[in-house]
Amino acid sequence: ETFYLKDYKPFGFEVESVELIFRLAPEATRVLSKIRFVPREGAADPRFFLHGEELELISAQIDGEPVAPRLIDGGLECDVPSEPFTWESEVQINPAANTALEGLYMSNGMYCTQCEAEGFRKITFYPDRPDVMSTFKVRIEGTEPVMLSNGNPGDSGAGFAEWHDPWPKPAYLFALVAGELVNHPDRFTTASGKDVELNIWVRPGDETKCAFGMEALKKSMTWDEEVYGREYDLDVFNIVAVDDFNMGAMENKGLNIFNSSCVLASPETSTDMNFERIEAIIAHEYFHNWTGNRITCRDWFQLCLKEGLTVYRDAQFTADMRSEPVKRISDVIDLRARQFPEDGGPLAHPPRPEEFQEINNFYTATVYEKGAEVIGMLKRLVGDEAYYKALDLYFDRHDGQACTIEDWLEVFEDTTGRDMAQFKRWYSDAGTPRLKVAEEYDGETFTLTFQQSTAPTPGQDIKEPRVIPIAVGLLNDAGEEVVPTTVLEMTEAEQSFTFEGLSERPVPSILREFSAPVVLERETSAAERTFLLAHDTDPFNRWEAGRALAREARLAMITEGAAPDAAYLEALTSLVRDDALDPAFRALVLSPPSQSEIAQALHEAGTTPDPAAIHDAAETFSQTLAQAMADSLPRLYAATTVDGPYVPDAEGAGKRALNSAILGLLSRIDGGEAAAKQYEAADNMTLQLSALACLLRIEKGADQSAAFFEQWKDDRLVMDKWFGLQVSMARPEAAADVARSLCDHALFDMKNPNRFRAVMGALAGHHAGFHHASGAGYALLAEKLIALDALNPQTTARMCAAFQTWKRYDDDRQGKVRVELERILATEGLSRDTNEMVSRILNA
Ligand code: ARG
Ligand code: ZN
Repeated sequence: ETFYLKDYKPFGFEVESVELIFRLAPEATRVLSKIRFVPREGAADPRFFLHGEELELISAQIDGEPVAPRLIDGGLECDVPSEPFTWESEVQINPAANTALEGLYMSNGMYCTQCEAEGFRKITFYPDRPDVMSTFKVRIEGTEPVMLSNGNPGDSGAGFAEWHDPWPKPAYLFALVAGELVNHPDRFTTASGKDVELNIWVRPGDETKCAFGMEALKKSMTWDEEVYGREYDLDVFNIVAVDDFNMGAMENKGLNIFNSSCVLASPETSTDMNFERIEAIIAHEYFHNWTGNRITCRDWFQLCLKEGLTVYRDAQFTADMRSEPVKRISDVIDLRARQFPEDGGPLAHPPRPEEFQEINNFYTATVYEKGAEVIGMLKRLVGDEAYYKALDLYFDRHDGQACTIEDWLEVFEDTTGRDMAQFKRWYSDAGTPRLKVAEEYDGETFTLTFQQSTAPTPGQDIKEPRVIPIAVGLLNDAGEEVVPTTVLEMTEAEQSFTFEGLSERPVPSILREFSAPVVLERETSAAERTFLLAHDTDPFNRWEAGRALAREARLAMITEGAAPDAAYLEALTSLVRDDALDPAFRALVLSPPSQSEIAQALHEAGTTPDPAAIHDAAETFSQTLAQAMADSLPRLYAATTVDGPYVPDAEGAGKRALNSAILGLLSRIDGGEAAAKQYEAADNMTLQLSALACLLRIEKGADQSAAFFEQWKDDRLVMDKWFGLQVSMARPEAAADVARSLCDHALFDMKNPNRFRAVMGALAGHHAGFHHASGAGYALLAEKLIALDALNPQTTARMCAAFQTWKRYDDDRQGKVRVELERILATEGLSRDTNEMVSRILNA
């Protein structure tokens, strides 16, 4: 069954209140509901249909009288009065058998829930759609020492706890947690003086890993008050860490549930990258309280209304807490690695899709990250002041409502008087625009002429021009800005912009800060790129110039058998030594484009990528760079080593990132001596793991790897790192075998998404290993996905995306992928989730 945006109809009833009683038992939990329905006048769809899946109906009543609802596919129907009435039902569910991790399930003996998008229907019969909002009262009966739900705590006593959420919410924001948990408590006073109790709840033993998350939460609360004027609205805010979780985290009202990997942090067990990610995810989920919860989505097609905006907000937060250019560069790397392939392949869809079979398949980089890019473009086009005015109007006008992208764009139209019709194409059209630029100079006037075009995507053959904000600055040949950053607003398929009164030909810096998610095509000399790498006053474009050089050097190695470009090596070397530059920035310049990015670039240039050749070129390049810098590496390594106790702040993280990139090069010439020493001395995970990675990359780390295993075998999150590293550092021809044997390891656990992703995600991310000519990578992933699908469709379906780039490769590889995709599709009882993903990948 396919659902379409155009078919939207409101539910025929309003839900005035919901009362739920949970009688907890692992295999037979009883859920009693009492729901007050009010029929809507003149409803377009007056049918009383409640969603329900995998529920055993025990009894049902309307206004106290037993009724016999008709159980149909996906729920039930019932004849109901035309006046307001009270629906009551009792159902039985089996949390212990719930390996899909959707609805109410058990993780390590603890009860927990995940309801977004459509999991509440596995808990009780209900109109499980985001435009149905109601207040909830919950009573939990059980023997668990801690029993939590949304909102504020009510009565509690031996064997029960009650919760009341005064804010109307859709069912997807419902949550319940019960188990043996301990808390890391704190408090926060909001700007208007409301005192809020904060808790992070974890398994006993993990309470020492909560302090960082708690600080991140308080910073987020302050930031949202200061920047968006948004205060928290309940007496308590609870966060719970859960080991078995399909995604990163979930913004349930007043009770955020986190994958433990996204909240637990300690210097000994977490890397700098983990710390940064945890801070961002805590912020993201907290920010949802306004962008998502107080204002939610009318239907799931509007998912990017809350996700794009909340990702944008968490990126602003990270930029403010850390470094703005470093955050921007990292986000663009991520966008190109995850969203561009989606936009350019069989899974392409607009940020607001118009149809789906399984909404869980649309929690994508396009909805999240491109959704956030669209907000960034809006802000750039209207300016900061108008942006915050529009946001104020949005919160004011739509508080308590379930909204659409139209509502969102309307607040911008109303505050700025701008017509948003053309801009809206960013929401409705899939595909990444390509932007070609030509330059002309006549001794006085400098003209930039842009052409935009977007290739067809599945279901969308014709693409109209979009509004593209192009931030441009002009430099003179001394590297001084002669025209500061200016935003050109492109609206036509082809359009020219002129800059007057220039006595010398300027060097343009185009698409500064990556002002739009497009592919900029500009034929430029390596000399000009080198100039921009050395002089651009926009840090993003400075990095971008280096990236383009790196990519071009790599392509020349692969297609022409060229040696690594000497001028580029030279530029890199001097940049790395430039102590005036932020170490984090230097680390980013030093880190090479991924092999998958090179494959994509080759594909776009009309060459079929050969994963083995790409791998060899990457190795040769790093080896050559290491040799070119050989004399200075030991000194650089020593000079960038961070002394003193570990602090997970941006400054220290930046220095360690640079230090670790240098160690990577040094290991290629010193046989791993420095890395082995670093491994021995490391007192934090960042240093320990980077040393181990360097050693494994040069096939030297067997002893350290065994020691690492012994040291950390009881820590699940650290063991995920160990599992992943074995695969990602394997030689291409061995990657699939290594992954296969790790799947047979005593500590491998199919039912734990983190562990499954650690191994199989690392295989999919090992470009030369996954795409090895033998086809062993494809076959192993397909085999494991088939096995996982029977347990956990959501995680299986997400990981099918590893195959989305298959059409880039040669016929032989395509043939091998096709066999595997068809094998998955032919699996008996395949989930709707996986079926939809594989069908889309195969058929486009
Ligand atoms: N709303 C959550 C977040 O962005 C993600 C929940 C995703 N759940 C899912 N079933 N796909 O923070
Ligand atoms: Zn989110």
